[in-house]
Amino acid sequence: MKGIVLAGGLGSRLLPLTKVTNKHLLPVYQEPMIYYPIKTLVNAGIEEILIVTGGNNAGEFLRLLGNGKDFGLKHINYTYQEGEGGIAAALSLAEFFADNGKIVVVLGDNIIENNIRHAVEAFRKQKDGAKIMLKEVPDPSRFGVPVFKGKKIVRVEEKPANPLSNYAVIGIYMYDRRVFDFIKQLKPSQRGELEITDVNNFYIREGAMSWDILDGWWTDAGTFESLQHAGNLVAKTGANKI
Ligand code: DAU
Repeated sequence: MKGIVLAGGLGSRLLPLTKVTNKHLLPVYQEPMIYYPIKTLVNAGIEEILIVTGGNNAGEFLRLLGNGKDFGLKHINYTYQEGEGGIAAALSLAEFFADNGKIVVVLGDNIIENNIRHAVEAFRKQKDGAKIMLKEVPDPSRFGVPVFKGKKIVRVEEKPANPLSNYAVIGIYMYDRRVFDFIKQLKPSQRGELEITDVNNFYIREGAMSWDILDGWWTDAGTFESLQHAGNLVAKTGANKI
């Protein structure tokens, strides 16, 4: 299975920190933010990785990461997203790389304490469809939120004012080849983006979505509060434990 780190977008919620550099190059405790999602993939046994970058200073990713020697990789693939068309728009750039195979996608600002090895193994065995990962959070309205009927997820709502569960759909997604067909059918949301939540709802409507609960802590790092929180968590316990 191949892995994709989405590190495009303009990081506008972190201005002026992102005025002259890319959000994913900012420090989270002792490493640049992009290190963490790369380790999430590598620790799950994924060695073929594409980084979708964008915005400012995209060339610096190459200078920082090279061919991935620091992560035990032989090669890293790169591509560039123009503008801030949304997570699904960034993912659409990976179609050629995916080459009809299954993929694991990690958002460039998502950091986890442990690893996703079990979930990735389970998805390897899953015949087709998709898998999302959930984490209970105190502030679900900031995220994609699953709506349950019993143990079944019937839809995901993106940043709902009145969340119907206490879970966030975290930024780690597993998809089969159909993801790129679904993305082609998307229309921009109210915030003008192609939403990954709409992609997930395609799979849910088809009855092809499985889910898992992530163990250990999870955080994003795309706002001032969450960036600081992420640094504190990493300092306290470390991240990406095997
Ligand atoms: O962190 C998990 C959440 O991420 C999910 O619960 C939400 O359902 C999902 O929509 C997303 O929410 P955010 O609004 O917080 O995502 P954000 O715009 O901050 O983008 C997260 C990462 O996705 C960002 O660090 C890089 C990548 N991205 C984002 C955009 C908008 C791109 O590569 N290109 C883009 O155009």
